[in-house]
Amino acid sequence: MKEVIRRLAACTEENRVQFRKGFDSFAARHGLSAWEGWFSPYDDEIYSSVLQNLKKDDIVLDLGAGDLRLALMMAERVRRVYAVEVNPVVVGAALGVIGFDLPRNLQVICANALDIAPPPEVTVAVLLMRHCRHFGEYFDRLQAAGCQRLITNARWKSGVEVIDLMKPRLPFEDVQEGWYACRCGAVGYVGQGEQPQALPVEVSYCPSCRR
Ligand SMILES: C[S@@+](CC[C@H](N)C(=O)[O-])C[C@H]1O[C@@H](n2cnc3c(N)ncnc32)[C@H](O)[C@@H]1O
Repeated sequence: MKEVIRRLAACTEENRVQFRKGFDSFAARHGLSAWEGWFSPYDDEIYSSVLQNLKKDDIVLDLGAGDLRLALMMAERVRRVYAVEVNPVVVGAALGVIGFDLPRNLQVICANALDIAPPPEVTVAVLLMRHCRHFGEYFDRLQAAGCQRLITNARWKSGVEVIDLMKPRLPFEDVQEGWYACRCGAVGYVGQGEQPQALPVEVSYCPSCRR
């Protein structure tokens, strides 16, 4: 698998698809603004943080799967991976490179992830997309589908967190002092900065989504 990933990396580097003619109107058609529709792989540290939070019985939904390199790594460790990528040029080139090395438990879907329902048996979703503008929509759809965890860098924009989608969320007003992280994707601090090390409180709404 390492050899396939090396081939993918080489192909991706010469394939800066967001600068190709037609990309802007494609992105607009899909409601992807600014960098949200850009494919750019993350580093090994980010991928390791995702991999170490998977269980062997997991059924994973990879949202914005890019050139499928993480999807391939995940497929080696879990029961099944559904990899959804909107960009046909990125995912088409990746499939060409992977060829007959495509594992049976990796199902690749070229679609806007917001246009398709999460498969009902999915246990964990992966959203590596720091520029995501639709976090709240993903969150609500996954929760409604019964997905248990969301592994993402979209909320704090650095590092990876594992969100328990089943956990009850508090009203924003309950946060008197400390960090909060909202289902809409916003994060912030309430108070005078007296508890900077405290773990964030999961809230169901916040000033960003109540505006
Ligand atoms: C920053 S890249 C990360 C790719 C991959 N997750 C990785 O870590 O290597 C984000 C990817 O999400 C894709 N994407 C963004 N919005 C999407 C959507 N609504 N549906 C499917 N793919 C989407 C982009 O085309 C891009 O390839």
